[in-house]
Amino acid sequence: MRKKAILITGAAGEIGDALIHRLADSYSDEILTLDLQPMNAEVSRKVTHMQGSILDKSLVDRLVSEYEFDAIYHLAALLSTRAEFTPDAAHQVNVGGTMQLLELAAQQSQWRGEPVKFIFPSSIAAYGLPDLDTKHAHPQVREWEWNDPTTMYGCNKLYCELLGGYYSKNYKQLSAEDPIMVDFRAVRFPGLISAFTVPSGGTSDYGPEMLHAAAQGVPYAAFVREDTTIPFMAMPDAVDALLDMAAAPRENLSRVVYNVTCFAISAAEFRDQVLKAFPEAEITFKPDVKRQGIVDSWPMDTDDSLARKDWSWEPKYSLERCFVEYLVPNIKNRYTD
Ligand code: SER
Repeated sequence: MRKKAILITGAAGEIGDALIHRLADSYSDEILTLDLQPMNAEVSRKVTHMQGSILDKSLVDRLVSEYEFDAIYHLAALLSTRAEFTPDAAHQVNVGGTMQLLELAAQQSQWRGEPVKFIFPSSIAAYGLPDLDTKHAHPQVREWEWNDPTTMYGCNKLYCELLGGYYSKNYKQLSAEDPIMVDFRAVRFPGLISAFTVPSGGTSDYGPEMLHAAAQGVPYAAFVREDTTIPFMAMPDAVDALLDMAAAPRENLSRVVYNVTCFAISAAEFRDQVLKAFPEAEITFKPDVKRQGIVDSWPMDTDDSLARKDWSWEPKYSLERCFVEYLVPNIKNRYTD
């Protein structure tokens, strides 16, 4: 008899940490986590952790034989900047790892006669605008526009969205009478900002890095120009987006992939928010050509009206609330403890 569980890959990362804190209070079955890293001590009490790689076939086979998954939150990925150093490794993890888990989900959906939910965080990196004039001329992109990513990570995310669509609608060209397919659902996140963890390897990291450096009294040189504009979102809203999308009735979903966004600000405006809370902060701008090129190809903002319509998505943390109520007090606590 297999044990019922949900599986979270990449669980030791930023989204995983926040998701587990939330799920542990509400989910009664086992939470199985998989990551190359150990879980931190506080979180590890709440989960069963497997330390290992999503590319390890024998480990994944073992999971299939021991567990029945209601849902898989597949968070493991190499982010956009890191992936440019090792594109081949990024492809293996971001695409090969996703493929392996989609196969697992497909097998489990078939034998248990009920779809496994497969929740996938995609990204604004799935977009690629060719130049700054085009970026400014299209300030809020729809899901199907400008799907020409310039990074390995963006290509990986976009392709995995397509794979998810295949596994949920066209798997083996099964007929409508045999509808037991994976229930794949994806959100395209903007840059995420957590008060409790610091990102690594991403290209939207200049925002959170600025804030965490200021809270620690450390000077920080952002790797982008002051006018660089992309959307951001507070981590609690990102977790809500994953959970709300996962909970939505299937028949309400008109798409496989949804934009979610919160506030679009320039790097200079981000600095101004940080300075309001930490007036002594030393923040400068020293653009890195490659990382600047990546963020310039990402949209100023996305249009998330379909998520709002289909599953009542609405972020709780506007720019003001995000800084005043969530980021600043929690970050101050974090570095004064
Ligand atoms: N935050 C991610 C990155 O910068 C984008 O999804 O790579």
